[in-house]
Amino acid sequence: MNLAELNKIAEAMVAPGRGILAADESSATIKKRFDAIGVESTADARRDYRELMFRATEAMSKHISGVILYDETIRQTARDGTPLVKLIEHAGSLPGIKVDKGIKPLPFCPGEVVTEGLDGLRERLAEYRGLGARFAKWRAVIDVGAGIPSHTCIKANAHALARYAALCQDEGIVPIVEPEVLMDGDHDIARCYSVTEWVLKSTFEELYYQRVALEGIVLKPNMVVPGKKSKTRASADEVAEMTVRVLKACVPAAVPGIAFLSGGQSDEDATAHLDAINRIGNLPWKVTFSYGRALQAPVQKTWAGKSENVAAAQRALSHRARMNGLAALGQWKPDLEKKAA
Ligand code: 13P
Repeated sequence: MNLAELNKIAEAMVAPGRGILAADESSATIKKRFDAIGVESTADARRDYRELMFRATEAMSKHISGVILYDETIRQTARDGTPLVKLIEHAGSLPGIKVDKGIKPLPFCPGEVVTEGLDGLRERLAEYRGLGARFAKWRAVIDVGAGIPSHTCIKANAHALARYAALCQDEGIVPIVEPEVLMDGDHDIARCYSVTEWVLKSTFEELYYQRVALEGIVLKPNMVVPGKKSKTRASADEVAEMTVRVLKACVPAAVPGIAFLSGGQSDEDATAHLDAINRIGNLPWKVTFSYGRALQAPVQKTWAGKSENVAAAQRALSHRARMNGLAALGQWKPDLEKKAA
């Protein structure tokens, strides 16, 4: 393992004012997104959509440090024949790849899932590296509800994440370690805190046992927020305070950066929360975004599958990427949103 090289990539992924575009929706998920805007999900439509994002020069060159791709996309070429990976590289951004194979029910644990995909992973990583991937992503999913999560679920998912991370580093690829505590339930923010704490402690324990070098990973956690169906809401300052508290308690300073998922937060909430977190200041890691929905929702809505909307959709991406880039520096202001509207 060349740790200096891995560390350099990890640092570039979380460079000041920049963050990651998660564009790695599986074919089933992107179909759902396209259904919502009335676009048929063909391979060409998926290519056209992603090409428009990767050609959004302003967003890509100034605010997007890396792009997480799906297996289909890392192999696709733009309309003019240029590999999509090259578009990302030419814009000064790093290509990455989702390598997990999705979630499956966890035996004897009703309502819980485990992420699969370790079989053949070393070979897939070697191939992806050849195709240009410099980092990878594996997402573990932890649901919160009555009697869950279980120790079994947290342990199984943390173990798989650590096995994946070790394989990545051995193949010269920076692993994004993503243990996501879902915000789907009716739990309050205190419960999100305690589950997130348990999940992060277990994840770092397993990373240690699998000999993963923390200097060569990027952590992609959830923020500490109340469940979507919770009766109690939390202010941005409360989210920021509790998120920073749990991260300081669980994430060693050797980790170069933390890049949050948006997890179903609205675009503006995801930005406001990231900004409030960075305004606390004096954090031992870079703290930025690795958003899917919170970056792409306005792009999809604006594009709606029409070539005449491409430029406007690119401006929508540039706007959200700029807002989140500012939030990664703790320099976002709500009136910057209004001016653009
Ligand atoms: P969201 O920001 O839409 O949660 O997606 C990020 C991601 O990559 C989830 O794995």
